[in-house]
Amino acid sequence: MHIAVVNGPNLNLLGVREPGRYGTASLGDIEAAVRARASGLGVDISWLQSNHEGELIEAIQALRGNADGALINAAAFTHTSLAIRDAALAAEVPFVELHLTNIWAREEERGRSLLADLAVGVVAGFGAQSYILALEGLVGWLRRSAGAAKSVEV
Ligand code: DQA
Repeated sequence: MHIAVVNGPNLNLLGVREPGRYGTASLGDIEAAVRARASGLGVDISWLQSNHEGELIEAIQALRGNADGALINAAAFTHTSLAIRDAALAAEVPFVELHLTNIWAREEERGRSLLADLAVGVVAGFGAQSYILALEGLVGWLRRSAGAAKSVEV
């Protein structure tokens, strides 16, 4: 099973950026923790961070046929980018939307997600652990879906 992790703008600054809000772990630390948990779950991970909307769109388009599922922290583009929403619609790959912070406990604009209704589920508010919870949730969901598909075949 292959899971792609897609990280949006400013997440490259984790650890330095507003540590009181986002924590002191760097994105590299989070990637290492996700890879360790993924290896325990027996899944492969690819990892991308970009500050550019077009690159994120291309990465999400490329999920189709290349990933079984995705974890997406689109950061501020979550709240603004119809183009990223359209890419997720086109990709037709199950994904979990995730955030380090509880976006509904912040400014009103952040409470609107253009991805949430397309996602299998949303994890927000657990800091770096949101990535691990999202991974566990998605892998469980994908395995249950595969099991359900098999029982229909039989
Ligand atoms: C974020 C929340 C967004 O509102 C914000 O723009 C980010 C990070 C989070 O992980 O909490 O950059 O996605």
